[in-house]
Amino acid sequence: MSWSAKQYSMFEQQRTRPVRDLVAAIATQNVQSAIDLGCGPGNSTEVLAERFSDARITGLDSSEDMLADARQRLPDLTFELADIGDWNPAQTYDVILANASLQWVPDHAVLYPRLVKRLNPGGSLAVQTPDNLEEPAHRLAREIAANGPWADKIASVKHPDRHPAAYYFEWLKPHCADVDVWRTTYHHPLSGGHAAVVEWFKGSALRPYLQKLDQGEQAAFLDAYLNAIRQAYPALADGTVLLPFPRLFIVAVR
Ligand SMILES: C[S@@+](CC[C@H](N)C(=O)[O-])C[C@H]1O[C@@H](n2cnc3c(N)ncnc32)[C@H](O)[C@@H]1O
Repeated sequence: MSWSAKQYSMFEQQRTRPVRDLVAAIATQNVQSAIDLGCGPGNSTEVLAERFSDARITGLDSSEDMLADARQRLPDLTFELADIGDWNPAQTYDVILANASLQWVPDHAVLYPRLVKRLNPGGSLAVQTPDNLEEPAHRLAREIAANGPWADKIASVKHPDRHPAAYYFEWLKPHCADVDVWRTTYHHPLSGGHAAVVEWFKGSALRPYLQKLDQGEQAAFLDAYLNAIRQAYPALADGTVLLPFPRLFIVAVR
């Protein structure tokens, strides 16, 4: 399953809340240039453009489907098809935003300091990554991948490594005037209950598994996942599931 703007945007309101909190914490003044790395359907770019309305704003993503939505949403901005892992622009920026994207890019020890080098002095790197690899939603996906008839195809699927706050702080501090790191657990109310939890992760964390399976296997995998999610996340009286979602935030100032 490649990235789908339609699937991802099913929960746009909840998914955009963290980027509002992240962008609100950027203290850089007189921002003239900003880029949104992994801009998705443009929801995070829109928040960036609202906050820095006088700046030249660019969005970058490796998914054509996401970029098509972003261009439709924000026709006056520039959007580029590129991979964050290879991104090495000639210019520098006042703000580099990456909301819910760098968890898909490997080798953070090299990546984060490299991004800081693309900042102007006083500029901010603002990053939010899900900190949920040990949450039931991820753990159960790994267990089902390893124990089903599809194990030879997907048991070895691995998300790129993520690290504790202290690692990011130590990698960034030598290159920065200030580094602010914090962690928040959101509790996203999903009125569609357990099926909505599955739809949420179909749009993100389950993709690497599902893309290696045929249609029949995908249906069976999702069925097993739904049953496991039912056990792991209690529903409220009206059927809503309050999905706990820990996220790590970093604002690093060069
Ligand atoms: C979870 S979405 C985040 C979208 C948006 N930034 C937001 O705040 O909701 C992750 C986005 O990162 C993009 N992405 C993943 N890996 C990437 C890479 N290596 N280079 C560029 N974009 C990437 C995906 O295509 C997707 O649009």
